[in-house]
Amino acid sequence: MIEILNVSKNYTSGRGHITALADISLSFEKGQSSVLAGKSGSGKTTLLNCIGALEKPDNGKILCNGRDICTFNQKQRALFQRREIGFVFQAANLLPWLTVAENLQFPLEMNGIRGKEQTRRISGLLATFGLAGYDTAMPGELSGGEAQRVAFARAIAHKPALLLADEPTASLDSATGYQLIQLMLSLCADQRTTLIIATHDIELIEMTDRKIYLKDGHLETKI
Ligand SMILES: Nc1ncnc2c1ncn2[C@@H]1O[C@H](COP(=O)(O)OP(=O)(O)OP(=O)(O)O)[C@@H](O)[C@H]1O
Ligand SMILES: [Mg+2]
Repeated sequence: MIEILNVSKNYTSGRGHITALADISLSFEKGQSSVLAGKSGSGKTTLLNCIGALEKPDNGKILCNGRDICTFNQKQRALFQRREIGFVFQAANLLPWLTVAENLQFPLEMNGIRGKEQTRRISGLLATFGLAGYDTAMPGELSGGEAQRVAFARAIAHKPALLLADEPTASLDSATGYQLIQLMLSLCADQRTTLIIATHDIELIEMTDRKIYLKDGHLETKI
């Protein structure tokens, strides 16, 4: 359960004062899937980054199972991100010097999942994501869709409580993106992972339990 309470975030840049998030209050239930939609610049990435503790709001609280993540020190933040969160971005961001299997191994190692359980998880993820036989492939040898499948598999390998995806299908064709999101929705439902996806993709907006619209940093509607 994530509760966002009166969160605001402002930036000051060459363009002057920008309100990226204005007094947002919102909660996400465990296992629920949501889309964050809204025009470019409406605050989607800023909100995802605040929930993932990549950025700190200027005001407000973000309670994750009762703990305010905005008060975390660096070490608490790192542990929170490592154990409880999976991130997926528009680009797959795989580590190019590691094989596909080693990219999947990384979050497991970081969370102390080793030995037989690690091997079982990696082969299970490769099969689930249609990547059987890709263990020793290097990221540079993959298509965009294949690389993004590895990125999703890596993001959920450690069974995070929360998966945050920022425009995850933006570089894929619509059929590939749709299939990948279908798969993620069913995996997240099975694992009771809360999924929040920021997107412009109209097709994707219809797929999740909930749609949340942002406009100029304000919550427009919530379902
Ligand atoms: N580091 C920053 N410095 C200054 N302004 C920023 C910074 N990050 C975001 N902004 C501004 O905050 C507002 C919200 O940006 P954000 O990236 O959250 O929008 P978005 O909804 O994700 O847009 P897009 O759909 O284009 O990804 C925008 O006006 C943006 O220019
Ligand atoms: Mg964005």
